[in-house]
Amino acid sequence: MSLHRVPLGADLPTGGLRGLVVAGRALCVVRTDDGSLFALDDECSHEAESLSEGQLLGCEIECPWHFGRFDVTTGEAVALPAMEPVRTYRVSADGEDLLIDVPEAQTPP
Ligand code: FES
Repeated sequence: MSLHRVPLGADLPTGGLRGLVVAGRALCVVRTDDGSLFALDDECSHEAESLSEGQLLGCEIECPWHFGRFDVTTGEAVALPAMEPVRTYRVSADGEDLLIDVPEAQTPP
């Protein structure tokens, strides 16, 4: 486990998503309408578009390029043309900061 502190909490409203780089890895961080936090790789598994440029629809992110969708709770692809999952990361809030668990040595999903 490698927790990284990111001072972002106030800039991530409910129903919002944001791209950021943690430990050299591009992530898409999400706060769903119920306030739950999730983090995924910020790269669509279809053709590598940035998911943080997409839309959050409930617990799904819709990719802005071909409109594939991913379940933010699991990273699973739930709408074509996306078929492969994206990696997810544990994230929690500590005051206004986010604590994101990004292992130092990453391997592709
Ligand atoms: S790049 Fe995301 S669905 Fe094609």
